[in-house]
Amino acid sequence: MTQDDLKALVGRAVLDHIPDGAVVGVGTGSTVNQFIDALATRKDRIAGAVSSSEASTARLRSHGIRVLETQDVASIPVYIDGADEIDPRGHMIKGGGAALTREKIVADLAERFICICDESKRVAVLGAFPLPVEVVPLAVPRLIRRFAALGGQASVRPGVTTDNGQCVLDVRGLTITDPLALEAEISLWPGVLTVGIFARHRASLCLLGTPGGVVTLDF
Ligand code: A5P
Repeated sequence: MTQDDLKALVGRAVLDHIPDGAVVGVGTGSTVNQFIDALATRKDRIAGAVSSSEASTARLRSHGIRVLETQDVASIPVYIDGADEIDPRGHMIKGGGAALTREKIVADLAERFICICDESKRVAVLGAFPLPVEVVPLAVPRLIRRFAALGGQASVRPGVTTDNGQCVLDVRGLTITDPLALEAEISLWPGVLTVGIFARHRASLCLLGTPGGVVTLDF
C-alpha cells in the first residue's frame, strides 16, 4: 500500500465517527483532501462543514458540501484533521500546510479532535518535523533569536504567505518533551500568531493508516 492509499483508508474510515446531522470541522492537507472526497458521498447526512483553509473550502464547495462560517455555529461535535507528527498522548505538530491558525481556531470550536494520518506520523517525541509557527513579519528577527535560545534554528518558509497574510517560521532542532508547556510559552511571545504545537487542542482519537488496516488510538 502506498502512503496515499493509507491516507484514503483513514479518510473513509473516519466517516463512521461523524454523527448524522452534525456540523463537521474540516482541517487541511492531503489526508483531509481524501476525507473531503469521502464526505461527499454522505453530504446529505451532515448539516455542513466549518473549514480551516481556503483550499479546503474550495474542495468542499466543489463537492457541493455546505460551508458554514464560524459565526454560524456555537460549537461543533467533531473536528477532523491530519498531523505532521502525533505523540503517544495525542499531542501533535501541525502546520506543514501553513493552515495552523485557522486549524486551531476550528479545533477550539470542537468537542473532540479526531486525527487521521498514516503511520509515518506517529512519533515517540515531537520535534523531528520542523515546528511551524505563524508570525507577524515584523517580529521575525527577534523570534529567530528566541528560538535559538531554546536550541532551535528558525527560518522563514520561502514564498509562503498564509490565508491570514502572515509568514511561517519553521523551527528545526527542538526536542519537545513537554508540548503543553512549550505551546504555552511560545504562544505568549509578541508577534506569534499561532504555534503549531497542538497540545491544549490535542487529539482524543487517532485513526492511523497502516498496511494491516486502520489502527484506532484512543487517548
Ligand atoms: C496543514 O497546515 C497541516 O496542519 C496538515 O494537517 C498537516 O501538515 C498534515 O498534512 P498531510 O495530511 O498533507 O500530511
